[in-house]
Amino acid sequence: MSLKIAICPGSFDPVTHGHLDILTRASKMFDRVIAAVMNNPAKDPMFTTDERMALLQKATAQLPNVEIDSFDGLLVDFARRKSATIIVKGLRALSDYEYEFQMALTNRKLGPEIETIFLTTLAENMYLSSSIVKQVASFGADISDFVPACILKEIEERLCVQEDKINE
Ligand code: PNS
Repeated sequence: MSLKIAICPGSFDPVTHGHLDILTRASKMFDRVIAAVMNNPAKDPMFTTDERMALLQKATAQLPNVEIDSFDGLLVDFARRKSATIIVKGLRALSDYEYEFQMALTNRKLGPEIETIFLTTLAENMYLSSSIVKQVASFGADISDFVPACILKEIEERLCVQEDKINE
């Protein structure tokens, strides 16, 4: 039987409890899970691709079948290169639905052999996003409920430095 390889794509700028929950649940469903960081300089990410990958690596260290990678270009092309047949996305509130539905249908058009599945978020992560984490941290508030404990310091230090620069 062939291995089931799934891709969890995203910006992960930075990885949150919400991402980690989806990766953990996906790791129980599939043989291999690839957390794929989109290399998207146009989006002007707070963390570089390498930094986002390093944070993910640390946050998923306890999940042996999760690996970290990055990609440029189309997700379906990356999935094919990795022999992955499943894309796993997390769904939060209804507000995610339209955009995710559009992406899933586009990906099906581009790669009909690749299936997208959605995992519903945990209720406590319904409101959580990387943007919220960055915004809350930039005002110096506690983000320990939002990001994995093992990377909290790195994220806080980085976001505080960013804020100091803004205030210079
Ligand atoms: O965490 P994000 O920013 O919501 O992740 C979005 C991501 C990376 C999953 C999405 O932008 C993506 O898959 N981009 C790759 C480009 C692509 O394949 N586009 C066609 C499908 S819309």
